[in-house]
Amino acid sequence: MVKQAALDVNGRLAVEKKGGGMDNNCLSILDKRTNATYEIPFHQGTIRAMDLRKIKTGTEDFGLMTYDPAFMNTASCHSAITFIDGDKGILRYRGYPIEQLAEKCSFLEVAYLLLNGELPTAAQLNDWISIVTHHTMLHESTKHFLEGFRYDAHPMGMFISTLAALATIYPEARNVHDPVTRRLQIARLIGKVPTIAAYTYRHGLGYPYVYPDNDLSYPENLMSMLWKMTEPQFKPNPVMARALDILFILHADHEQNCSANVMRSVGSSQADPFVATAAAAAALWGPLHGGANEEVLRMLDEIGCKDRVPAYIESIKAGKGKLMGFGHRIYKNYDPRARIIKQTAERVFEITGKNPKLEIALELERIALEDEYFIKRKLYPNVDFYSGIIYQAMGFPPEMFTVLFAIPRTAGWLAQWEEMVVDPEQKIARPRQIYTGYSKRDVVPMEKRVA
Ligand SMILES: CC(C)(COP(=O)(O)OP(=O)(O)OC[C@H]1O[C@@H](n2cnc3c(N)ncnc32)[C@H](O)[C@@H]1OP(=O)(O)O)[C@@H](O)C(=O)NCCC(=O)NCCS
Repeated sequence: MVKQAALDVNGRLAVEKKGGGMDNNCLSILDKRTNATYEIPFHQGTIRAMDLRKIKTGTEDFGLMTYDPAFMNTASCHSAITFIDGDKGILRYRGYPIEQLAEKCSFLEVAYLLLNGELPTAAQLNDWISIVTHHTMLHESTKHFLEGFRYDAHPMGMFISTLAALATIYPEARNVHDPVTRRLQIARLIGKVPTIAAYTYRHGLGYPYVYPDNDLSYPENLMSMLWKMTEPQFKPNPVMARALDILFILHADHEQNCSANVMRSVGSSQADPFVATAAAAAALWGPLHGGANEEVLRMLDEIGCKDRVPAYIESIKAGKGKLMGFGHRIYKNYDPRARIIKQTAERVFEITGKNPKLEIALELERIALEDEYFIKRKLYPNVDFYSGIIYQAMGFPPEMFTVLFAIPRTAGWLAQWEEMVVDPEQKIARPRQIYTGYSKRDVVPMEKRVA
């Protein structure tokens, strides 16, 4: 006999229709262990995992959970910031296609959009630029902190540590529930990340740090802090500055990726935004995430010349590593950012001359896109495949690539963080586990233990 066990937790579960029948907008589950059926309502194309908890074999049973390592099929939040359709290769911030934003907007305009939901008016943009510009300076103690790193410290290690260290300078940042305090820290972080990035670069070269120049735009100021030498004012190349701005727009957010998830997860404990951003940047550094652009360059160096590409592809297919800059958890079609980067690269190369690695990269892409192994697995170039080649042509060493990714992504992390903080449904992030260890056992005295 089939028992009807319609759930009614918090009024969200299946309700009897006036006519007596069950609501069609729900999932019917038959638990063959008990022969009970459960009606679980759909919620914006999903079911709530907590609704499964009522599926039990008896009163002692904890209730059904889902098992989803690496969040392959779990939505962890509602978000109105970024939309991706990985099958169609679509990326939009707040509804605006990435192609239009890259063509028509500046990075700070896009950062405003991510944080506020709408594109700014001219007056709003001026105010926003002025706010960010007035937060570009670092406290001198932060400069001394950076000076303490070894001469060959990886810029990303310095960048992450310095972000965390900012929490000691702005202790009020812990007041995460005050909107005014939150907005001040957001402006500080977006204003200061280029300065920290430039300091990490100059530290490696042994050059003196360059203070921000408030007369320059966001990317121009970064270029000045990176490359100014003895001249009174740095004159940024406008094509390079615009290319950097476009790269920043493309990297500004990417919905619930690994580092955004870390930002939300750390922020969910009400930790301040400086340490949460440091944690997100740490996640970005991994070679499977933002660290991939550095790995792409190492891979192109290892391949060495165009003729060796087929042999390299064969070695990947034989299981010897991955083709860095290829594949994506969400995009199973061409990454739309990679297409824009490729066009931007052309403009940069007109100034800098072609990066000789481009030839190897193009050949790698050509062969991989025709190869059954890559076609079957839907592996296409991602954002990191070409960004490293542009960065290198601009004069950056590979160690700086992930730092260059982290600068604009800070805006996305902060938009995701604030959305999480004000979301009444969010609590401290705390996944469940399937315990596979021993059941209870007693401690054996040392003299009786055997190896
Ligand atoms: C991005 C990435 C982590 C996504 O991983 P994922 O969604 O977990 O995909 P999987 O690792 O399950 O890959 C599916 C299959 O494609 C293969 N694959 C994935 N990326 C590959 C790559 N770059 N080169 C060769 N094979 C790859 C996997 O080996 C697997 O093959 P199998 O089914 O025979 O076991 C992965 O594609 C990758 O490591 N790419 C290289 C690093 C990179 O460029 N990262 C930047 C992302 S923007």
